[in-house]
Amino acid sequence: MIMKKILVTGGLGYIGSHTVVELQNSGYQVIIIDNLSNASLDVLEGITNITKTPPAFERLDLRLKADVADFFKRNQDIEGIIHFAASKAVGESVQNPLLYYENNLNTLIYLLQECNAHGIENFIFSSSCTVYGEPDSLPITEDAPVKSATSPYGNTKQISEEILKDTCSISALKSIALRYFNPIGAHETAEIGELPAGVPQNLVPFITQTAAGVREQLSVFGDDYPTEDGSCIRDYIHVVDLAKAHVIALQRLLSKKNQSNYEVFNLGTGRGSSVLEVVNSFEKTTGENLNYKIVDRRPGDVIAVYADTQKANKELGWKAEKTMEDALKSAWKWEKKIRKIK
Ligand code: WQD
Repeated sequence: MIMKKILVTGGLGYIGSHTVVELQNSGYQVIIIDNLSNASLDVLEGITNITKTPPAFERLDLRLKADVADFFKRNQDIEGIIHFAASKAVGESVQNPLLYYENNLNTLIYLLQECNAHGIENFIFSSSCTVYGEPDSLPITEDAPVKSATSPYGNTKQISEEILKDTCSISALKSIALRYFNPIGAHETAEIGELPAGVPQNLVPFITQTAAGVREQLSVFGDDYPTEDGSCIRDYIHVVDLAKAHVIALQRLLSKKNQSNYEVFNLGTGRGSSVLEVVNSFEKTTGENLNYKIVDRRPGDVIAVYADTQKANKELGWKAEKTMEDALKSAWKWEKKIRKIK
């Protein structure tokens, strides 16, 4: 059987690399585009160590319109695209909005132009729960109001979804936007995982780097929120569960099971966990003592956000299977591997 060829942009990144593994496990031929701005070529080796099939790879910056067009001229057999390549640090986006608008929007536009030019009709987009802002009610459903973005990063996700919706409404393009909640964890083999550049902004990599002695102490940003233990609540989802959902969403489009040309799905566990619960779960799961202190709130943090996952459960037939403990254990195994800790 001829394997369908799928382009994964940002395929050497955290969620992208885990999705490439699941695509290959499902029999797809994968070609990765990555500009290596937030990923390393070693990830290709990690993927290959898991699947024994080296994915095709091209180093390419999707902001270069002519290079994007040339790529598609040379790769006319692509049947679907999963688009991860984007800048994703909320804080950085506040400091450098134009970098985010150029990188996250121009690249999407150039890709969609090539889809139109080459008759590529299946497009999976990496979106984020950040489009909901501070929700009016919980758990959050896909038809919850999209609030005005609290960062240029979040705004690029909202605008990208609008670009997709408008493009799908007047062309043969079919697209699914997947709104991730908080991805955590690593592949069980510890061959791939999260590789934050510099000081981690996200909670779990900061926890594992603190436990590994790379960071002195974890700062817990506030315990005076109106929640049970005073710390913020999030929906932490194992990155492998997230990756599998991408393959299912792609198959939905390839088999024309989509119910409209543009669909949106929340990808979360449906459970909220507080920062302090994550810290305690990490200590219990790994036996490591974590050095942390409570500090002031981080500006821009929402109090609580977690997903209503019924739509993805029912229509995609997908449900997160791994637990918080699975994720923290895998994250710690990965951290110990990259820091060469026994
Ligand atoms: C989680 C909780 C922090 C670090 C971000 C993006 C979102 C998505 C996921 C891309 C919060 C607390 C964190 C630390 C802490 N990314 N925390 N100490 O902010 O929910 O979401 O990543 O799509 O768009 O906004 O994730 O991991 O940064 O924070 O106390 O050192 O952990 O205050 O309550 P967040 P996070």
